[in-house]
Amino acid sequence: MLKVIIVAGARPNFMKVAPIVAAMRRRSNEFHPILIHTGQHYDAAMSDAFFRDLEIPDPDVDLGVGSASHAVQTAGVIQAFEPSVINEKPDWVLVVGDVNSTIACALVCAKLDVKVAHVEAGLRSRDRTMPEEINRVLTDQIADLLLTPSADADENLKSEGIPAERIRFVGNIMIDSLLENLGRARKSTARADLGLEDKDYAVLTLHRPSNVDEHAALSRILDALERISQRLPIVFPAHPRTRKMIDELGLTERVANMKGLIVIDPASYLDFLQLLSGARLVLTDSGGIQEETTVLGIPCITLRENTERPITVEMGTNRIAGTQTARIVAAANEVLDHPPDKNNLRIPPLWDGKTADRILDALMGAS
Ligand code: UD1
Repeated sequence: MLKVIIVAGARPNFMKVAPIVAAMRRRSNEFHPILIHTGQHYDAAMSDAFFRDLEIPDPDVDLGVGSASHAVQTAGVIQAFEPSVINEKPDWVLVVGDVNSTIACALVCAKLDVKVAHVEAGLRSRDRTMPEEINRVLTDQIADLLLTPSADADENLKSEGIPAERIRFVGNIMIDSLLENLGRARKSTARADLGLEDKDYAVLTLHRPSNVDEHAALSRILDALERISQRLPIVFPAHPRTRKMIDELGLTERVANMKGLIVIDPASYLDFLQLLSGARLVLTDSGGIQEETTVLGIPCITLRENTERPITVEMGTNRIAGTQTARIVAAANEVLDHPPDKNNLRIPPLWDGKTADRILDALMGAS
């Protein structure tokens, strides 16, 4: 029986831990999972709604760390997490993704000589100004088992000198949640509530500091949205960070006056999945949404200069449009004028909904 602490910190972690916790509960003669929520994301819309939609059991421990500067938040998780590891003496700690909680908990384990497995290892944007890139590189250096979503991730790790025996290609865990919940998402009323049933619309998400923390950068994106929203309405579940920055940068009125931009609160997992799966196009600076749109066959325009998920461009529906107004508008026009043929959909290898069991097998194999 393996005792495994599973760490969940921020919104993009929840859909990754859900299938792993569920698989361990199914295989309860082999695994004893302990779920620890760091509290990096803590409010009803960013956390509770995801636990409910994804049917994740209540965490065994909630560290309640909350929002702060990167240093304070990361240090807070390190300090709060260490006693749990010392008390529980787990066989493994499993961290997912690239948020501050991921590196903080991995570092605690490395210092206590407790084995740590990293799910979604090996992704690289090669942009070190991105906080997540630092978290990815450092977590992979200290983790004992690197569980990768795609072959490019294996190559990245090997080129950084990580021995092949620490790497296992298991596939994309987010897609386990996506495929498990698509049917339930059809019953959501999100589209009807916005009057968008059977209508063409786009979905937008935006929260990267490089896009929303400066007036010039955010204004360039708003200029593009203004023009795209003349062709079809854009539903925008606004991240709390983005809402705050819109206010602080004095852009509240401008956003309110954009008639085609429908700003709503952050959507729950099932509501968002319903909105996403019915969209003509998606504009995003998120990582996970590039992957979800690839599997759903929805055109995705990524509002960044790079991606750590190149397979979504090579095989999927993603295009990297950057953050300049003209390029974003051109990409949207191109997609709207030439909708992709859904029959040509290509799904990357092992994005098949069975990654959680491969992760459990890899943990057993490495123990
Ligand atoms: C974090 C992750 C990012 C991920 C994103 C998804 C890091 C470095 N960044 O960025 O990789 O894509 O989450 O959401 O870990 N806030 C709330 N309620 C919450 C959480 C946050 O209102 O439950 C507000 C706070 O005002 C906070 C701000 O959102 O200051 C930003 O939150 P934070 O966790 O610091 O970073 P994110 O931008 O969400």
